[in-house]
Amino acid sequence: MTRKVEVTGLNKWFGDLEALRGIALEVERGEFISVVGPSGCGKTTFLRIVAGLEPASSGTVIIDGRVVTKPGNDRGFVFQTDNLLPWRTVLSNAMIGPEVGGRTGPEEKRRTLDLLKLVGLDGFENYYPRQLSGGMRQRVNLARALAIDPEVLLMDEPFASLDAQTREIMQTELLRIWEQGRKTVLFVTHQIDEAVFLSDRVLVFARRPGRLQECVEIKLPRPRSLGIKRTPEFVAYVDHIWRLIEDDVRTAVIHEHV
Ligand SMILES: Nc1ncnc2c1ncn2[C@@H]1O[C@H](COP(=O)(O)OP(=O)(O)OP(=O)(O)O)[C@@H](O)[C@H]1O
Ligand SMILES: [Mg+2]
Repeated sequence: MTRKVEVTGLNKWFGDLEALRGIALEVERGEFISVVGPSGCGKTTFLRIVAGLEPASSGTVIIDGRVVTKPGNDRGFVFQTDNLLPWRTVLSNAMIGPEVGGRTGPEEKRRTLDLLKLVGLDGFENYYPRQLSGGMRQRVNLARALAIDPEVLLMDEPFASLDAQTREIMQTELLRIWEQGRKTVLFVTHQIDEAVFLSDRVLVFARRPGRLQECVEIKLPRPRSLGIKRTPEFVAYVDHIWRLIEDDVRTAVIHEHV
């Protein structure tokens, strides 16, 4: 395995607010990494810096040996809420990435259709977003991010708006897609079981200032199916991460009320 992403001494201030302090991380090519932590610990900020959408105050993000200064086609971003264009069809929404890159030929179209099939939207190419369920819209979002064929996939709570069942289906779908293409993934979630289920490593962030509290390696066998969530090993991982976050939240709450 080779190093894909390297983050060193990353700090971020928003005025007087220290959003991130001293984040350091090395991600191998093809690794699946999740980031969990209480609200406001800087998860989104971290992901936006890696995406090149937000500058760091100090420190660097290096992808394939190059310092990140702006967004690029090597990174695909999936947000919490789908941001599909309502007047475009599913296919045309999924083609936005390649279009921006100036690639709209039959080859791109065929590839995008294959991706829609991969995310289970075969036959829905000509539907409009309003004709789709939330889960389907989020899958179009995923296909759109994959359509630029990014080497690094950055996902910020992509399944947060979905109901529990759809969410679990999307988790297995995402793993299936990841097993096929082995992209490097940075995945932000509030849901600890989701992070454990998907990841090779779970980064637990703490608040005030936002920082990396612990990096938990998930040594569960792959490929994984939903049944693994009931195993004692799985439950022990979730429990361990819960405690880390709970302690942090409790300390924060106590400090804020004295
Ligand atoms: N553009 C901004 N300007 C000022 N402060 C900001 C900005 N973006 C984020 N912050 C602050 O930085 C801190 C971290 O925010 P961030 O959105 O990264 O947290 P988060 O971990 O993603 O939270 P959540 O789990 O609620 O999504 C918060 O205190 C937030 O108020
Ligand atoms: Mg966030």
